[in-house]
Amino acid sequence: MADEALYPVPDSWTGQCLVDEARYDAEYAESIRDNTGYWAEQAKRIDWIKAPTQIKDVSFGPDDVHIRWYEDGQLNVCANCVDRHLADKADQTAIIWEGDSPDESKEITYRELHEQVSRLGNVLKAMGVGKGDVVTLYMPMIPEAAYAMLACARIGAVHSVVFAGFSPDALAGRIEDGRSRFVITADEGYRGGRTIALKTNVDAALERPGAQHVEQVLVVRRTGGDIQWNARDRWYHEAMEAASADCPPAVMNAEDPLFILYTSGSTGRPKGVLHTSGGYIVYASLTHQYVFDYHDGDRYWCAADVGWVTGHSYIVYGPLANGAITTMFEGVPTYPDAGRLWEVVDKHQLNIVYTAPTAIRALMREGDEPVKRSSRKSLRLLGSVGEPINPEAWEWYHRVVGEQRCPIVDTWWQTETGGILISPLPGARALKPGSATKPFFGIQPALVDEQGQIKEGATEGNLVILDSWPGQMRTVFGDHERFVQTYFSTYPGRYFTGDGARRDADGYYWITGRVDDVLNISGHRLGTAEIESALVAHEAVAEAAVVGYPHDVKGQGIYVYVTTAAGVNETDALAAELKQWVRKEIGPIATPDLLQWAPGLPKTRSGKIMRRILRKIAEDSYDNLGDTSTLADPEVVDQLIAGHEGIT
Ligand code: WT7
Repeated sequence: MADEALYPVPDSWTGQCLVDEARYDAEYAESIRDNTGYWAEQAKRIDWIKAPTQIKDVSFGPDDVHIRWYEDGQLNVCANCVDRHLADKADQTAIIWEGDSPDESKEITYRELHEQVSRLGNVLKAMGVGKGDVVTLYMPMIPEAAYAMLACARIGAVHSVVFAGFSPDALAGRIEDGRSRFVITADEGYRGGRTIALKTNVDAALERPGAQHVEQVLVVRRTGGDIQWNARDRWYHEAMEAASADCPPAVMNAEDPLFILYTSGSTGRPKGVLHTSGGYIVYASLTHQYVFDYHDGDRYWCAADVGWVTGHSYIVYGPLANGAITTMFEGVPTYPDAGRLWEVVDKHQLNIVYTAPTAIRALMREGDEPVKRSSRKSLRLLGSVGEPINPEAWEWYHRVVGEQRCPIVDTWWQTETGGILISPLPGARALKPGSATKPFFGIQPALVDEQGQIKEGATEGNLVILDSWPGQMRTVFGDHERFVQTYFSTYPGRYFTGDGARRDADGYYWITGRVDDVLNISGHRLGTAEIESALVAHEAVAEAAVVGYPHDVKGQGIYVYVTTAAGVNETDALAAELKQWVRKEIGPIATPDLLQWAPGLPKTRSGKIMRRILRKIAEDSYDNLGDTSTLADPEVVDQLIAGHEGIT
């Protein structure tokens, strides 16, 4: 193991950082010793309409699972992200927006943000959106996406952001599940020099049986491209012009829903992860400040998309609650070329950059030159999120991008956790490439064996969290039983993350990846079940099984085994068609990388597919297939191994 490489806190950070090692140790110990007291204290960073007196009411089961924080508090999340900064930061930039094209950018002040969000709040009200209504956002990375999220929060509506790379079917499924009657979108989006047909996708989604109840669609004009116009559509700019800029923030309870965000699990359709108001904003803002060592005036960039939780917590809510300067980037790291990220850093003099290992690996392939074209003198801190970062990519990020002066915070968390749970605090910890290091304040991770026994010391196991934190998801929207089943039934009384991890002798955590049937493709979560059900919906497919395999850039690639329907020929043309089919059914991120024809699938006698074997074959490690004696038809394994040859 490469545990040996150790990068101490740079001297330049000493005395400058918010949290040093001594403070971390003391504060962490205290946050566990008096957890309720700790979170009572942290709640004060938020402006409450009525300060909470009931801090924590949590049960992880087994009989009853409920999670409530700051239950009797009242607040408005939007007012915390916008209004409260007007007194001293009205003319400070809130959002730096960088367009897909390097020629397009702008800065939005807190005063402007307040006006836009207030107007939009009134537009939504005029459309009939009320407290608790679910508004679906299907938008490009333009400031209007942030305005829309905040406007929902302002009037007490619940947003459900759907990543603009998802297909009409995926969008329709989320609209249906959320019983959402309102959609905000754009005519088209720009991404990497191409356009994405957002409004056309919305029109297609709203023809699906489950989504026909949508009453109104608000459309931002981004490209001016040709779109179809329906009776339910209205232009954003026209509605905004007519709206008043006076929209008092609604009084919300701490446990009122703030947003739903769908994420893939190991089985079934994506789950609507529900986050509520008070605890979420306390946790997002606190972690943003400490993990990124955010000082007033720092120019911060999280290069994610608001379609994912990273964009929710660390582009919009965390930074804006802290009165920070946050960057929104419409484009991709490789357009117009592989130097784009660092060009943007220089252009806006950014101090903190937070991105995904997959982007780092893709850029690393292009060599050092595109990086070295830029100065990057403004950079102080780098961040990584979404998947394990391999030490090689970490070293490159550190040496070439950060010129060895910028610590890297490798932040482990999940859609469900609302914010970062395990990460270095950059002034408090020597770094080891590939390790997310230690838990944030108030977080109690543990490693358990298959029986749920806690393992102490340097060891490996499944990662659970023993107690709640304010940013934790509260339920699966509309299906509390699924929430309990998914997260609290494997190890009763504990939150099971679905990840495996190792802990070394220094107490550092090394996340090894998912131990369930969830794929992590370029830092994006996909369920094998979703891809399989897309495949079997094709008439040529009798059966399909999907597994991940190691991929140089994406971290994991998608490997599919397909058994054709009777009489269907296994041709290259059909393989290509099936890949396109999945792409169309779910979205480009779900496009299979490799496809193998399977005369049969390895199943137990009770009919369960043994994915473990399929994974091993896809990974080329046949000598280690484990016990195959329970297979109904052991011969199928040899056939699959033979068929795997030549799949590249
Ligand atoms: C899964 C959660 C958290 C926002 C982006 C992804 C993996 C996330 C790390 C990391 C190793 C990581 C885990 C986790 N993951 N961050 N720093 N090191 N693995 O959110 O889509 O909910 O996915 O991403 O496997 O369970 P998500």
